[in-house]
Amino acid sequence: MPTSTELLALADRVLVRNYRQQPIILARGRGAEVWDVENKRYIDLTAGIAVCGLGHAHSTFTARMTEQMQRLIHVSNLYYNDQLMPAARAITEKCFAAKVFFCNSGAEANEAALKLARRYQSQVVGAPQRTTFVSTLGSFHGRSFATVSITGQPKYREGFGPMVEPVEFVEFGNLAAAQAVLEKRTACAMIVEPIQAEGGIVVAPPGYLAGLRKLCDETGTLLIFDEVQTGVGRTGRWFAHQYDNVVPDVMTLAKGLGGGIPIGAVACSEKAAQGLAAAPGGAVPHASTFGGNPLACAAASAVFEIIENEALIERVMQAGEYLGKRLSELVTKFPGHVVDQRGRGLLRGLSVSGAPAAVVARARELGLLVSVAGDKVIRFAPPFVVERGQLDEAVAILGKVFGEGVGKA
Ligand SMILES: Cc1ncc(COP(=O)(O)O)c(C=O)c1O
Repeated sequence: MPTSTELLALADRVLVRNYRQQPIILARGRGAEVWDVENKRYIDLTAGIAVCGLGHAHSTFTARMTEQMQRLIHVSNLYYNDQLMPAARAITEKCFAAKVFFCNSGAEANEAALKLARRYQSQVVGAPQRTTFVSTLGSFHGRSFATVSITGQPKYREGFGPMVEPVEFVEFGNLAAAQAVLEKRTACAMIVEPIQAEGGIVVAPPGYLAGLRKLCDETGTLLIFDEVQTGVGRTGRWFAHQYDNVVPDVMTLAKGLGGGIPIGAVACSEKAAQGLAAAPGGAVPHASTFGGNPLACAAASAVFEIIENEALIERVMQAGEYLGKRLSELVTKFPGHVVDQRGRGLLRGLSVSGAPAAVVARARELGLLVSVAGDKVIRFAPPFVVERGQLDEAVAILGKVFGEGVGKA
């Protein structure tokens, strides 16, 4: 086995240096813990950036994936496969959606949703002039050209212009700002995250999503909820918008949907689905070679089944409440340094007055994995199976880190 020093040297030689990984090399995991190649243990409150809700090496999930790999991994969309329809049904049974399109990531799901919106307006409504995408400042929707174009944080676009246009950005949470843009009736769709996650765990204010629904209905604009990070149980509901008693026309999913196996999905109403439907005898309007493959679809079905069978959404609620309470204690204990805690379920942010990256690095040295979201926020997105003892240990490590003055302006 190569040592971590050898592997890090190899990384320098053979990997494009786009990422800034923490300098550890992970090799195995179980539940909410992972181990590096030197066998050092870490409490993992990142879950692969809100992906591994079931935890690492979940026995039922692993067995199900192994069994599927031994039967069939891939056939392409030239054919149906026996995992495809059950996975789509699993999504539709839990939300507003009537129809599902599968792809492989969050960016791809949003890319497909944007294409759907343009084509819906031009081919179904007969309004080809409605091409504008409305998005929110502070949002994050992915790294493809279209999704980076609609991401409301300029840093993700630097060096990549020209972007996909037209896009109009409005303040997140501000209904009057959305109204001013939507009333022009030039937009094909408005896209919004129920909780801005990469933007720093910012929960949509009460009434905002419902207000957008009303505005979109009045102006004939499609409403897209990007639930790539918030979906599939993460916030304590199957989907975060279900807190608000409102439905979109289109919802995008990825991350937690596959329990770690790459998969993305566009879930939509019957009406919106027409935006991607092939005309009789016409070309296939949108496609993906890997989208809907048997392995990824079996993963999605297994994720829904396991969350249900093991009552994991209830666990998210309980663990999320407990984590929120413990993080609030840190806010009280380190005034002016640890500023506030927020979020829903097991998607939480703790904002600090200084650099959150320094907190992340020091916590990692002490055996805790957390990540940064936004400019000032430490993100917590643990596996749903995280135990109270692990959360206590994590909070104790953070207490030590803050006690050292790390993350203070
Ligand atoms: C809300 C949201 N949308 C889209 C994406 C992009 O997903 P992916 O990295 O799978 O392309 C992310 C990733 O962080 C996200 O948080």
